[in-house]
Amino acid sequence: MAQKKIWAIGGGKGGVGKSFVACNLGIMLAQSGNKVILADLDLGGANLHTWLGVNNPDKGITEFVEREVPNLSKLLIPSKIQGLGLISGAKDGVEIANMKHTQKRRFVSALKSLDADYVVIDLGAGTAYNTVDFFLLADAQIMLVIPEPTSIENCYRFIKNSFFRQIFHNSENFRMKSLVKRILRKDNPYNVNTPKDLIACMGQLGGNAAVFIKEQQQLFLPTIVLNQVRSEREYKIGPAMQRACLKYFSLNVKFMGHLTFNESVRSSILARQPLAVESPDCETMQQLKIIYNELLQHELDRTEKHNLLSKLSL
Ligand SMILES: Nc1ncnc2c1ncn2[C@@H]1O[C@H](COP(=O)(O)OP(=O)(O)O)[C@@H](O)[C@H]1O
Ligand SMILES: [Mg+2]
Repeated sequence: MAQKKIWAIGGGKGGVGKSFVACNLGIMLAQSGNKVILADLDLGGANLHTWLGVNNPDKGITEFVEREVPNLSKLLIPSKIQGLGLISGAKDGVEIANMKHTQKRRFVSALKSLDADYVVIDLGAGTAYNTVDFFLLADAQIMLVIPEPTSIENCYRFIKNSFFRQIFHNSENFRMKSLVKRILRKDNPYNVNTPKDLIACMGQLGGNAAVFIKEQQQLFLPTIVLNQVRSEREYKIGPAMQRACLKYFSLNVKFMGHLTFNESVRSSILARQPLAVESPDCETMQQLKIIYNELLQHELDRTEKHNLLSKLSL
């Protein structure tokens, strides 16, 4: 069996469609014959079960994190879709943002050992370190954004925090930790505020620092999906964000496609019937299908790049 893939849906802001997209991408993966687990990591506002039209079980990730449930796979509940299971966030309890380091390590290794072809995680809102860490461990990193200044701003912040966090994590393996820590301090003498500044600064330092930052820049490959689009003018925000990331951050953030605003999304949730089941051929689903295919292709490109670069750094 091919190695399991993790897809993570994040993006900073609440109400932009993360759970809607996570649920329906999960269904598409399952309908293509994969064994899929949807994991609701929005522990403060877990509602993926409602999107999927199943009752919320009494136990979920919170109980696993708090050690009431020893085995993550015991939390798996079936859905009406063949091949698709859900691990709920369940009750309000520990939030991802407050998860301690040891709790996070235990949870990550449990996630990675789940028996599935794909694990799709709904990250919830925010740019807390822990949320960003779950985003970074995924094989496909999808940020949802809507055409509103607040959402766009949060998305840029999410990208910036994710890149800095990746550099911080990986600096350890390359013996760059103390240098990176110094550069990423708020009052750093290098005047580094953005990913572009950091890339330029480490590039100028030359030697291992330059090799390290170039490789990290190439490995950082998150994607954007623009949701709730109501006009041609709004659609342009997607490609514009991709260009802005390159220009102002020196980062390759790929725009994967858009989803138009569609009242059926709301009615699908009222009917407790996912859109992929209720109206699989509607415009929004056709657009999601395009994004889905882009993501599969992106996953291949990314794996290739990762294999190549990890060989280089040996
Ligand atoms: N493409 C869309 N068209 C119309 N409404 C949408 C669309 N995407 C999401 N919504 C609405 O936005 C709300 C928030 O979506 P949700 O997936 O719960 O956001 P998040 O998980 O990011 O907080 C939902 O109630 C849904 O009805
Ligand atoms: Mg949600």
